[in-house]
Amino acid sequence: MDVKDQSRGRLTKDGIRIYEATDFAGMHKAGRLAAEILDEMIEHVVPGTTTGKLDEIITDKVEAAGAKSATIGYKGYRHASCISVNHVVCHGIPGDKLLKDGDILNIDVTVIVDGWFGDTSRMYVAGKPNRRAERLMQVTYDALMLGIDAVKPGNTFGDIGHAIQRYVESQRMSVVRDFCGHGLGRVFHAPPNVLHYGRRGTGAVLEEGMFFTIEPMVNLGRPETKVLGDDWTAVTRDKSLSAQYEHSVGVTADGVEIFTNSPAGKFHPTWG
Ligand code: MF3
Ligand code: CO
Ligand code: CO
Repeated sequence: MDVKDQSRGRLTKDGIRIYEATDFAGMHKAGRLAAEILDEMIEHVVPGTTTGKLDEIITDKVEAAGAKSATIGYKGYRHASCISVNHVVCHGIPGDKLLKDGDILNIDVTVIVDGWFGDTSRMYVAGKPNRRAERLMQVTYDALMLGIDAVKPGNTFGDIGHAIQRYVESQRMSVVRDFCGHGLGRVFHAPPNVLHYGRRGTGAVLEEGMFFTIEPMVNLGRPETKVLGDDWTAVTRDKSLSAQYEHSVGVTADGVEIFTNSPAGKFHPTWG
């Protein structure tokens, strides 16, 4: 990473980088590629395929676009995606796991384009989901969008978390506390931790030029998770189904820009 690039803009007292107006274009380009790759994965998610095959396709697409995967080599991770099936909350490692009819899965891709990071994930179904799984995915999607609605200068990160938590709990589902969103831009993970729960008016104040992800994980059962022996795969402790949606966003003068919108308009729904 170029040290000069790291020092562009300024840092707030909370250590959050404020990017410049011209930096939005770089984030849009990276975000669009990540979203396009997720669009192109829809047709490949079918019963009988494996998460490893899906990851191979993603690896090829990143390379074909002349981009780089942010996850290959990240803290020893070796794949271009995380694929989290059913009760896997996040960071599922692609492998020989066979998908069967009704499985729901999150595919999370982060690419680097011209030094900018685009990080997004969404839900897929192999075959046809059952009604509870469908409802879980719908609530998780709506929770992300309500969180994004709370993004504008003067609001706080607590406002985002509160909007998500309030809605999810009103639907009798639970918000995972053990993982959060993050600042990003010229780096993958930067301050702040973007919590998906919280109280109104708490946390750092949002300012124009902040770039970060919102990526709520929602469980049908209890919120607790545990990480498996592979040191990556996080699952629900009670084995209940879990879902996640993630966008990378930037704060504008009067609101928010989503960098990872689906060019095909297929971020949601993918199942109907
Ligand atoms: N893309 C994930 C996120 O949303 C991070 C994956 S890191 C990996 O922050 F190493 F597990 F790939
Ligand atoms: Co992320
Ligand atoms: Co991600």
